[in-house]
Amino acid sequence: MATASEANLPTSALRALLDATPAAVGCFDGALRTAYANTAFTMATGLQEGSDASEQLPPLVEAIRDVQRGGTPRRVRVGRSRMPVSGRLFALEGALVGMVLDAGAHEALAALVDEQSALRRVAMLVAAAPAADEVFRAVAEEAGRLLHGTSAATIRYDEEHAWTVGRWGEERGFVVGTAVPLRDSEGLTATVRQTGRAGRIEDYDGVRGRAAELMRRNGYRSAVAAPVFVGGKIWGLLLVSSGDGSLGRDAERRLAGFASVLALAVESAEARAELNASRTRILEAGMAERRMLERNLHDGAQQRLVALAVQLRVLERRLEDRETAERLLHGAVEELEQALAELRELARGLHPAILVDRGLAPALNALAARSPLPVQVEGVPRERLSPALEAAVYFVVAESLTNAVKHAEATAVQVRVTRAAGDLVVEIADDGRGGADPEGGSGLRGLADRVDALGGHLSVSSEAGRGTRVRAELPEASGS
Ligand SMILES: Nc1ncnc2c1ncn2[C@@H]1O[C@H](COP(=O)(O)OP(=O)(O)O)[C@@H](O)[C@H]1O
Ligand SMILES: [Mg+2]
Repeated sequence: MATASEANLPTSALRALLDATPAAVGCFDGALRTAYANTAFTMATGLQEGSDASEQLPPLVEAIRDVQRGGTPRRVRVGRSRMPVSGRLFALEGALVGMVLDAGAHEALAALVDEQSALRRVAMLVAAAPAADEVFRAVAEEAGRLLHGTSAATIRYDEEHAWTVGRWGEERGFVVGTAVPLRDSEGLTATVRQTGRAGRIEDYDGVRGRAAELMRRNGYRSAVAAPVFVGGKIWGLLLVSSGDGSLGRDAERRLAGFASVLALAVESAEARAELNASRTRILEAGMAERRMLERNLHDGAQQRLVALAVQLRVLERRLEDRETAERLLHGAVEELEQALAELRELARGLHPAILVDRGLAPALNALAARSPLPVQVEGVPRERLSPALEAAVYFVVAESLTNAVKHAEATAVQVRVTRAAGDLVVEIADDGRGGADPEGGSGLRGLADRVDALGGHLSVSSEAGRGTRVRAELPEASGS
């Protein structure tokens, strides 16, 4: 920057003064580098000390060159995308050019600061995950106040209507719960839905439809609205209206910021709801498994043990009748062996000891060997993986094999494990009749939840007549 000899101020003192002034001051050297920028200048233009004006603000370059060539001080407008500001350029010494932004820049800056603070307040509120209606109300309020509107609303679409779900400002019409039809309307709710773009109506006189009629009747003249997109689909809109005139040139762009925060809030609320649903399903699946276990114990092993006890009691009384006793004893031993086999089978379903003791490959081979269908297993890693990952793969394979036996009328099943891009991928394919439907039972959905919980993804392709393929992609880092 300039030496301060004329002012008799050391450079460091001059720099301290410029740093402290609220005016926006910057200097450019012969190479169009920003040699000095105070905080206000950086906030208004985006240029920091050391940054290149020709890269970041091409419109400024001509003017700086002109002043460097000895031209007179001149005013320039710096059109940044968000906030055009203007200022005065003057020669300092050598190739150095100074620039002071004028009062308009301060207003623009103040407006930007207001907007950023309002957005930050909404973002902080959203981060605290309050009830949805509180978010809808708060976003409407911040947007309405910022644009100096008379009132504002958060509005959500269903198939045919626009519903007011959040409201701020004068209580004229459109209370929360109001629905207006989208058909035969030229109002903003209808046009924003059609175009997917922000829109504005400067004067509601002569605008067709029920929404416009309500606006007129409640004394509103103009309104601006921005769409809210959730998951790539239009969810609703944010609307600010005014009773006494225009809402400002830049209103659409400013509203869009609030619409994005609102979209994030809705998305994260939906994600939370989905997570809760998945947790509930895991709990329910656990309970269903337990009920099934009780039933199996009741119908199977328990019945056999009861029968065994009865036989032994009869045997006790028949000990002198050797032939009958021998027959009963023989039957009892058989019942006992069956009961043991069933208990072992049940225990295996609960707690695959072989998986915990020896790992995935032996456990999957054991599953395959036990299946009544021929099952080919390939690609299973020999090394141990995290317990959660091993368990997930095991249960995906176990359930899919059970399904192939129970539902598919298959003649063979193939199990293949591969690794791709940090994922462990397991696929189970049968050659049965297809038509598997995760909504039709609890097994596949339980698998999807289990895989989800590890950050993975489960897919089922099962066209009728073309077999069923269950595929789970599991991040290898999961559960470790
Ligand atoms: N491999 C398969 N072949 C054909 N149909 C299947 C297969 N797997 C599942 N299905 C069908 O999809 C439904 C859902 O499966 P699942 O979620 O495992 O529930 P469940 O096995 O408890 O009935 C089954 O009821 C069955 O009708
Ligand atoms: Mg099943």
